[in-house]
Amino acid sequence: MQNQLPKGKEHEKTLGLFDLSILGIGAIIGTGILVLTGIVAAEDSGPAIVFSFLIAALASGLIGLCYSELTTSLPNSGSAFYYAWVSIGKFMAFLAGWTLIGVYVTTTATVANGWTGYVQSFLEVLGINLPHKLLVNPAAGGYVNLPAVLMILFMTIILTRGTSESKFVNNFLVGVKIFIIILFIAVSAQHINPANWHPFLPYGYKGIFTGASAVFFSFLGFDALATSAEDAKDVDKNIPRAIILCLVISTALYILVSLVMTGVISYKDLNVSEAMSYVLLSKGHKYVAEIVSIGAVLGIMAVVFAFIYAGSNIMKSMSRSAFLPQGLAKVNDKTQSPNRAIWLVGLLSAILAGEFDLHYLALIANIGSLVVFALISLIVIILRYRYPELKRPFKVPFGNVIPVLSVLICIVLLVSISLNAWLTYLLWLVVGLIVYFCYSLRHANEFNFKDESDIPGN
Ligand code: ALA
Repeated sequence: MQNQLPKGKEHEKTLGLFDLSILGIGAIIGTGILVLTGIVAAEDSGPAIVFSFLIAALASGLIGLCYSELTTSLPNSGSAFYYAWVSIGKFMAFLAGWTLIGVYVTTTATVANGWTGYVQSFLEVLGINLPHKLLVNPAAGGYVNLPAVLMILFMTIILTRGTSESKFVNNFLVGVKIFIIILFIAVSAQHINPANWHPFLPYGYKGIFTGASAVFFSFLGFDALATSAEDAKDVDKNIPRAIILCLVISTALYILVSLVMTGVISYKDLNVSEAMSYVLLSKGHKYVAEIVSIGAVLGIMAVVFAFIYAGSNIMKSMSRSAFLPQGLAKVNDKTQSPNRAIWLVGLLSAILAGEFDLHYLALIANIGSLVVFALISLIVIILRYRYPELKRPFKVPFGNVIPVLSVLICIVLLVSISLNAWLTYLLWLVVGLIVYFCYSLRHANEFNFKDESDIPGN
């Protein structure tokens, strides 16, 4: 049973600032900006979605700094599960890990669910119409969102074959994503009619915060960077810089897209899941809309890949430490991939993507992430008191002010999320508690540094 801090394996450090930034942008830019922007503008914030993005970006920035301190101090692990185990205890570690599995499953489901809108719009332009009942979930009058289910299963199979994320493919897909977003901005900006920005705050200030809780989803993925610490060159400087750079680039793109979108057509008409193509088609740009749809289809698949991978890694890590049945950590001899964990995450995500609504899934993913992020910020403070001697190559400046602010902003965003989504998250926690008391409590141990020399920095 692993019950001490793993000593650093001698890894070849391959990722510089550029690679890390591409990696982060690859996980960050996806369904959030391509799909949720239109829906959130229509339902929550109106044109003031720009402010929702700014609030979500600020929250992500503060949390990103906290992640940087933990990742550079404990560079052999990247998960809240592990940080909580070291700093608080096994019960919180389980809850953090269990929540993270829920986050990665619902994020995968949301991203795939949003993907269907772009597949549909791409096929429609080619004159192919799939039966409506096989495109939407039961709440929207269908049977199942079949394309989303099939895409997740396809990605799951690829992952079980041990396909490692190739730098080239990832760079290409990130390039495609950025290209279509800039193309959208450049082509649509000429159709802006400032009258569409009035009223700017149709749902009041409350709408800005409700919107911020929803679009927070668009920034998820910056935390994935923290998990690459082992492979990063000059980790102390590059991880914090890459996190901030990714957030600045994505925030700039998100703000431009939302300004253009709500400026070209009224926010009331944006309640569609392929808003970019919809806006372009409404102004007669059929070919550009087609290019944007193909780019979105490719780009979103990369995000699904990243999140199934992340979910299965957390599951594997919890199983290895006996918080979940240890069979789940078993890796395939040939490919070294944790196939059982990958299949479990893939199947759960496929079921959710097929049967639930996109906006609702995104809210649940946001609750889980915000809970984990609040915990990350608290752990920064706890770890400073508990292990003051721990070597901290990157320290969040201004004492505990930023971690405290980060916790507060997470709480403000959490409070703005609807009760229904909260109940679903609580149900997930109840299932978790059953697993904990029936299994983990008896099998997992409290974390102990074996001796002083186990504490990194000593
Ligand atoms: N931030 C990722 C996306 O928007 C999850 O798709």
